Amino acid sequence: MRRVKTAIVGSGFMGRVHLEAIRRTGAADVVAIASRNRAAAEKLAGEFGVPRVGSEYGNILADPAIESVHICTPNAQHFQMAKDALGAGKHVLCEKPLGISTDEGRELSRLARERGVRNCVCHNLRYYPMVQQMRAMREAGELGEILIVEGNYAQDWLLYDTDWNWRVTTEAGGASRCLADIGSHWCDMAEHVAGLRITAICTDLQIFHRTRKQPRTTGETFAKIAGAAQDFRATEVQTEDFGATIFQMGEPTRGSFTASQVSAGRKNRLYLEIHGIRASAAWSQERPDELWIGKRDMPNGVMVKDPALMEPGARAYADLPGGHSEGYGSTFKQLFRRFYASIVNEKADERAAGEAAMEYPSFDDGLRQLAILEAELKSHAQRGWVGVPAV
Ligand SMILES: NC(=O)c1ccc[n+]([C@@H]2O[C@H](COP(=O)([O-])OP(=O)(O)OC[C@H]3O[C@@H](n4cnc5c(N)ncnc54)[C@H](O)[C@@H]3O)[C@@H](O)[C@H]2O)c1
Repeated sequence: MRRVKTAIVGSGFMGRVHLEAIRRTGAADVVAIASRNRAAAEKLAGEFGVPRVGSEYGNILADPAIESVHICTPNAQHFQMAKDALGAGKHVLCEKPLGISTDEGRELSRLARERGVRNCVCHNLRYYPMVQQMRAMREAGELGEILIVEGNYAQDWLLYDTDWNWRVTTEAGGASRCLADIGSHWCDMAEHVAGLRITAICTDLQIFHRTRKQPRTTGETFAKIAGAAQDFRATEVQTEDFGATIFQMGEPTRGSFTASQVSAGRKNRLYLEIHGIRASAAWSQERPDELWIGKRDMPNGVMVKDPALMEPGARAYADLPGGHSEGYGSTFKQLFRRFYASIVNEKADERAAGEAAMEYPSFDDGLRQLAILEAELKSHAQRGWVGVPAV
């Protein structure tokens, strides 16, 4: 299969994760990195032998040899960068959230369709093998009709008022922080696994730190800033630390989830539990190789990842034999593999009987998450239920 020439914009946390995962697909070569932080981009490029570094992404888009672009910059920059990349005829893989409003998401979906290029929003967490096992069990009818979908996504890296990141600001992150950043991953996974759409929402948000100590120099995401309190400016915060949502998924399904960036000890606990009329299934990102299966009239069980034991539709998401973990980094590899297959092979969308789906979250799915997010913000502002439009 021919290898695709690709570029990455952004050289922070995601820039590195994408670079490593693209290499693991064996399907593409990263030939350029553009970043505002040129020193970080040069370091990354040097480590991985990427030939070209620039501070202007426009120069990279002008290169006709580059077919696709990964956008790994702060949320508020996604729209313009993705729009420019689509305008240059590139296939675009954009980090989540796709933009900071449904207007942006709608415009990007429209442009991608108009240009006829491949487009993907990076909801990679769907690609844990045991998440796909849960989905395949639901598709096979093993859970029966879905009654309840619930869970949470909890982190602790913004617990103290000395914790700071661009996500805290509306200018760089958008009006929502916690729900946009991690709640969107939870909703994408819940809809994907349950095979249902969230149709109405009631949300309550909280900002525990109304003022944070913004360091005068900021670091990469998740970097601990030692001594931040010595050189800071007190900055008012308008983005939520926590959100609680109850929702409907049409009839009869009901659900709830919380998202938090201030839960001590929870590093990246995405937890999803689905209760069907025949059985339940639960998965946690803290123990990704395990799937809990709950029964009413039989003993419960814990299934450990082993492709030989998985549903046929989920096996293609596990590359390693049982007992060998496939973690966060591998979810990107699985997603990017499918994205590049769709670029090289025009017929990659077709799914033969018994074959794993080659699909991945598109800009339409990104727009969908923005519609959920907008409904959550509206619900909180109005203190009541809000419908989620089908987009
Ligand atoms: N899928 C996931 O699991 C996941 C995880 C973390 C972050 N993200 C998303 O990835 C995106 C980036 O987050 P991050 O944690 O990597 O942030 P980060 O702060 O670590 O890195 C951002 C990078 O963008 C660069 N940048 C900023 N403005 C730029 C510009 N105008 N031109 C070029 N480069 C520019 C910065 O220099 C930095 O290298 C966000 O949208 C975030 O929501 C996704």
